[in-house]
Amino acid sequence: MEIREKILKLKAEKDAVILAHYYVPGDVQEVADFVGDSYYLSKVASEAKESVIVFCGVNFMGESAKMLNPDKKVIMPDLKADCPMAHMATVEGIEAARRNHEDLAVVCYINSTAEIKAHSDVCVTSSNALSVVSALPQKNIYFIPDQNLGRYISRLVPEKNFIFNDGYCHVHTSIKKDDLLKKKAELPKAKVASHPECREEILELSDFVGSTSDIIKYVEKTDAEDFLICTETGIFHALEKVGKGKRFHAVSGSQICPDMKLNTLEKLLHALETLDNELHMDEALMKKGLQPLELMLKLADRKKNEGV
Ligand code: 13P
Ligand code: SF4
Repeated sequence: MEIREKILKLKAEKDAVILAHYYVPGDVQEVADFVGDSYYLSKVASEAKESVIVFCGVNFMGESAKMLNPDKKVIMPDLKADCPMAHMATVEGIEAARRNHEDLAVVCYINSTAEIKAHSDVCVTSSNALSVVSALPQKNIYFIPDQNLGRYISRLVPEKNFIFNDGYCHVHTSIKKDDLLKKKAELPKAKVASHPECREEILELSDFVGSTSDIIKYVEKTDAEDFLICTETGIFHALEKVGKGKRFHAVSGSQICPDMKLNTLEKLLHALETLDNELHMDEALMKKGLQPLELMLKLADRKKNEGV
């Protein structure tokens, strides 16, 4: 039996659902029940009926799924798959911000540890940050950990006062202005689509800025032959499905997230066979970390229902 068939058979036998982010290898995306951006995957996780959730992504995604489903088994193909940016904020930093600013909301990007979430007021993802931040009553926003997403959102909500943190994604910030300018000179008609974790100088040169799923939607509806894609290249698998006949180009050779690539088909099979790679979390931490996640889902849904 092929590895793919074995996975599908075990998935049914073990009452498991497989969730995968757009950055994991294409063959893993192909066996998943749901593929999406972090917001979509957290929504799917919050509504899961199966008793086992297999999360093909990085640690903060698995942890979020676990907090949303404390009674389910959440397993990952490789528990070492971690997002370095998730660790680039501190509880001391949050406490200092709370001491120094009145009328403050601590807004934490979902790419953060459970401990950071537990000390925050609300979570956001790149696809809902604008609507969630706009819906907050507080004037001051301490945005952690990602300085680039924070700065991007701050430009769109000028009525709020942002306090930034110095976290960043090493994959997205490895894309440099000179590389993009060189590619734009080679392909002058190409449209540039970028993730908001990129540097500001990249976003300024972009035709479109959005989350992974928003980039896919943009490519689908945009009439162009060539696209310069400023995000992790795992997304090309989904782009090629929606953009038949369109060509996708990376800007530099460094647009690869090594942690996302730990999610191989072989490890996924092993995780399903043994159910060994289970995420275990402290109960109290899970309860506290769940609050900002639930508020995010509530505020993002409310905005969606209002048509924003
Ligand atoms: P999305 O929410 O856009 O999928 O982003 C997740 C991520 O980790 C980007 O680096
Ligand atoms: Fe983290 Fe960057 Fe990898 Fe996304 S691409 S999981 S932000 S290291």
